[in-house]
Amino acid sequence: MRKNIVAGNWKMNNDLAATKTLISELIELNKTSDAEVMIAPTFVNLMEASKLLRETSIRVASQNMHYAESGAFTGEVSAKMLKVIGVNTVILGHSERREYFYEDDLILKQKVDKALQESMEIIFCFGEQLDDRNSDHHFKVVERQIKNALFHLPSSSWKSVVLAYEPVWAIGTGQTASPEQAQEMHAYIRKLVGERYDITTSEKVSILYGGSVKPENAEEIFGKLDVDGGLIGGAALDAKSFMAIINSF
Ligand code: PGA
Repeated sequence: MRKNIVAGNWKMNNDLAATKTLISELIELNKTSDAEVMIAPTFVNLMEASKLLRETSIRVASQNMHYAESGAFTGEVSAKMLKVIGVNTVILGHSERREYFYEDDLILKQKVDKALQESMEIIFCFGEQLDDRNSDHHFKVVERQIKNALFHLPSSSWKSVVLAYEPVWAIGTGQTASPEQAQEMHAYIRKLVGERYDITTSEKVSILYGGSVKPENAEEIFGKLDVDGGLIGGAALDAKSFMAIINSF
């Protein structure tokens, strides 16, 4: 009933040549799978990625976008600019955007609204810091991030929303949340959505896990009831390991 999704967040990796190489390896290895597959290269390579993947089942997502229609926002990219090149999905709220580029709940709410207004799909990321977990505040932190940026939406918008729980302490650290920790948080999130909206909305929304997912741990994490896929960083930069993760479903 829910979509399984595996999305590769390439972050600031891969120049044009490396982008072309990795995409051709992915096309070569990609078979029909139970998961929808996406990659998110850096802005400058989105157009090439979009062209190369046009005839395939692999979709292209952006790692970010601005909330304004257009204008004096040096260095930024609008939703419309992405759509023109065939990019209809955007990752919003990644912890690196929150931490290094000071994106807060209010900015993210505006980005969410703009993306949905432009009929884009969003992968909305959130997650607690290690201190939050150690002090037992992780549920509260996640709840705040989701409520502040998403709970003003009408239920009809949720068909275009994918959630990604990414505990900050697990990103790029090699330290994964245990499958039980992921399941516990995903079930909590689904319950929140169900309480704010209804059971149909909460049962339909895909909730991805992100943070040091690798071929060795993907099957166990994806096997959990409320985990509907993954947002993959480091392991998405290698075609074989990304495919192994996709094939863990
Ligand atoms: P990682 O990154 O897989 O390298 O931990 C995940 C992410 O940042 O989405």
